Amino acid sequence: MRGAPLFPFAATALLGLLLVFALSLVGLNIGGEEAAENNAEEGNNAEQEFDDPIELGESVYEGQCASCHGGELEGGTGPALDSGDYDEETILTAIEEGPGSMPAGLVDGEEADAVAEFILSEN
Ligand code: HEC
Repeated sequence: MRGAPLFPFAATALLGLLLVFALSLVGLNIGGEEAAENNAEEGNNAEQEFDDPIELGESVYEGQCASCHGGELEGGTGPALDSGDYDEETILTAIEEGPGSMPAGLVDGEEADAVAEFILSEN
């Protein structure tokens, strides 16, 4: 008996560890997708009537950008947006193309213009 039964136990333990690891990856993915969906829903709410494009922009920002760039544009996962580093074109390009791990095309058209205007108004 000595030595022989060890291998199956070790293999089972290893499989278990792999499974935990694999499942935690799946969990992370699901979390990410849900967050994106929630963001999209909030973005739709932002299509209420706003007289002032900056107010629309602020609402879009809170729904679509604040989770990564901070409620006060102070930064988080993404860089701070109150640093004066970004002009309108850079912001619109970032929204469209999604640099790095930022999702592309979170908003477009009027909402994209409005959120850029809002960010610039805070700089
Ligand atoms: C999921 C997180 C996330 C969300 C949501 C997000 N961003 Fe970003 N953003 C990032 C990250 C990360 C970077 C840095 C990307 C890089 O350069 O690697 C970034 C970079 C930027 C930049 C700088 C681009 C450059 O050229 O350096 C701007 C401007 C920007 N984001 C604006 C926005 C706006 C506006 C929104 C909302 C419509 C938004 N982001 C939503 C994560 C996010």
